[in-house]
Amino acid sequence: MQENILSMRNIHKKFPGVYALNGVNFELCHGEVHALLGENGAGKSTLIKILAGIYTADEGEILIEGKKAKITDVYSSQAHGISVIHQELCLAPAMTVTDNIFLGKELAGKGGFINFAKQRYLAQKLLDSLKLEIKATDKVSNLSVAQQQMVEIAKALSIDAEIIVMDEPTASLTSKEVEMLFQTIKELKKKNIAIIYISHRLEELFQVSDRVTVLRDGKYIGTRETVGTTRDELIAMMVGRELKDLYKRSVHPLGETVLEVKNLNRNNILHNISFSLKKGEILGISGLVGSGRTELARAIFGIDSYDSGEILISGQKVQIHSAAAAMENGIALVPEDRKGQGLVLIQSVSYNITIPILKQFMKFIHINRKVEEEITSSYIEKLSIRTPSLQQIAQNLSGGNQQKIVIAKWLGTHPKILIMDEPTRGVDVGAKAELYSIINMLAEQGVGIIMISSELPEIVNMSDRVLVMFKGRITGRLERKELQQETVMYYATGGIKDAS
Ligand SMILES: Nc1ncnc2c1ncn2[C@@H]1O[C@H](COP(=O)(O)OP(=O)(O)OP(=O)(O)O)[C@@H](O)[C@H]1O
Ligand SMILES: [Mg+2]
Repeated sequence: MQENILSMRNIHKKFPGVYALNGVNFELCHGEVHALLGENGAGKSTLIKILAGIYTADEGEILIEGKKAKITDVYSSQAHGISVIHQELCLAPAMTVTDNIFLGKELAGKGGFINFAKQRYLAQKLLDSLKLEIKATDKVSNLSVAQQQMVEIAKALSIDAEIIVMDEPTASLTSKEVEMLFQTIKELKKKNIAIIYISHRLEELFQVSDRVTVLRDGKYIGTRETVGTTRDELIAMMVGRELKDLYKRSVHPLGETVLEVKNLNRNNILHNISFSLKKGEILGISGLVGSGRTELARAIFGIDSYDSGEILISGQKVQIHSAAAAMENGIALVPEDRKGQGLVLIQSVSYNITIPILKQFMKFIHINRKVEEEITSSYIEKLSIRTPSLQQIAQNLSGGNQQKIVIAKWLGTHPKILIMDEPTRGVDVGAKAELYSIINMLAEQGVGIIMISSELPEIVNMSDRVLVMFKGRITGRLERKELQQETVMYYATGGIKDAS
């Protein structure tokens, strides 16, 4: 093995009420892809933020190329050749790829003017060196999320980054796009760049990483060569116990039809969408990002309007024009974008979980705090949400724990129809198992569930039936016995089998 480009030794970091990192070690070699694994709240992002100069460690040292490095802020981190690609991309959408790559470090030409031609040339050279099919003149808003991520990578290379950190890079990518990213990672390895890779998708780690380091509760558990370790071993290191039966499905009879969607159309976005959902059924909706799945959910939930078509709930035609009306009709939507729509980040855990059901606690004019606390505590326990207290502010929780709060919030409304858009995005494997078991339990109790997901294993293992969407249309309808990842992929990329 080559020598280390980076060593983080005995790193400690405390936040009020939380020991986020408790003596963590992390080593990274030149040209290595080193995965960082751990449950939600284990400390992965905190470790990365210390490397990126966003937080300062309370204790411990960082060595780069064997020399002690002082990382005091984002600039000194970059000066050490470190570049972090955060989960929320930070490109300027209205600008071109070139302008984004050179933003803040424009090349001066004659007379102090920006040398646009040279910038374009260099940007294209970078994109080509990564074998990307992206033009330097493309506008960022016209690129897919995956392509935008590639632009972030090109941008990192433009500042001569030698260590690139990717914090959950595939969370919003589809499997095709993940392949693209892995190709790019291979190109980066050829350039001897070292990569720290964070993901909750274990199968990816086996495809892409050379070594894996596991954290649990802020502690360093160990490092393994990826070849020669197993999924079960990593899970045991992560959760501290063995985890059997990730996907839990019980067989139960389905009830009457609770939701019917007939010929729903929305200009250029949804084309003749028709389907029904029974009580107790889990209907999976698969498709690539941008295939219209989220738009469909939003139309049913009353946030987006539609041009024509009908929606019936328990046989009654309904007109739903707001989320409030949807909730009155017994529909809940766990949205895809938790930061934008799901959470009030500056409010407490308790506030966020109970906001849709506040009415229930209104006794005269004040909220019944005790009931609010009981409900919040019960969800914290059911979903194992890691928070030092009910009053912790949502934005201080780790990404996965924020997602669990959004789910708790909607479960609390006791819906008849529960729509979940990418429910397990960013959720660790232990919590996923808990979540699947909750979804299964709700189905048993007769809730009709629509589960939109880009994770094929989850779609295939949890659904009674699956609709596959492509460019705003339903291209495939699959029964449980026909469910296979390859078949779903076939329809998601434009193959057609619409039995209706
Ligand atoms: N700014 C902060 N203030 C208070 N607590 C924080 C802050 N940032 C992180 N924490 C806490 O530190 C712990 C580690 O969080 P971190 O974000 O590093 O987890 P993670 O491993 O990245 O999890 P995930 O997989 O959910 O993204 C969590 O308990 C989190 O709530
Ligand atoms: Mg994180």
